[in-house]
Amino acid sequence: TALAKVEAARRAAEILEPLIERAERIGIGTGSTVRLVLRFLIESPAASALRRAKVYASSFDTLLELRRLGIEAYDFLPRDGLDVYFDGADEVARVSDMCMAVKGRGAAMLREKLLAFNSAYTLLVVDESKVSRNLGDKGKPVPVEVVPPAVETIVEEFESRGIRAEVRTNCSCRDGPAFTDNYGIVIDTWPWGVMSPIQYESLLDTLPGVMGHGLFIGYMDAIVVGYGDGRSEEWR
Ligand code: A5P
Repeated sequence: TALAKVEAARRAAEILEPLIERAERIGIGTGSTVRLVLRFLIESPAASALRRAKVYASSFDTLLELRRLGIEAYDFLPRDGLDVYFDGADEVARVSDMCMAVKGRGAAMLREKLLAFNSAYTLLVVDESKVSRNLGDKGKPVPVEVVPPAVETIVEEFESRGIRAEVRTNCSCRDGPAFTDNYGIVIDTWPWGVMSPIQYESLLDTLPGVMGHGLFIGYMDAIVVGYGDGRSEEWR
């Protein structure tokens, strides 16, 4: 996986360099893969463009990382949208030519989706361990971010539909539920086998109290997949 991730990041940086050189506003995702891509970009000819452009971070974690690299970043959306956005993912699948992803292990999926939706071009970067035939094959959850007063009723709603739901509490920094950068609570859910990703997306979008979720269907322009043998693929 380590080699595959490096290859994914290397190839992503290669794809991103010319886009970044032309970009005025760049969005940056969250996670270890994004950090690797940044490391490649900082060493590339696009580094000066990255420092010159306006940069928007998808999480407080990324904001701090960018500052460590000497890049000043915003955590507000630009009014006129981004030129380019890149991010990692937890699971990706291509189902009848449609790219789908699950994100939010790091609980940053709401701001990530805001940036992806508002970007002219969005690239996801993953190593081969994240690739599934169908979303859910790896048993990973779809994280759902909810306003705190709704947490119990939303868990009940999921359970009544046969969807396993667990409030995320496994956070070493505090007792009780883990809060996001938006002060929402994360519920990890397993809709797999109960409804399709598209059906689940429409359910989530109609439940009051849901602030956001980690299902990404149709928000990306391309996905780069890196393999341990040094190959990479680009899905569009
Ligand atoms: C953050 O909330 C997630 O959506 C990340 O994009 C995802 O977890 C990828 O992280 P890694 O690159 O560390 O696997």
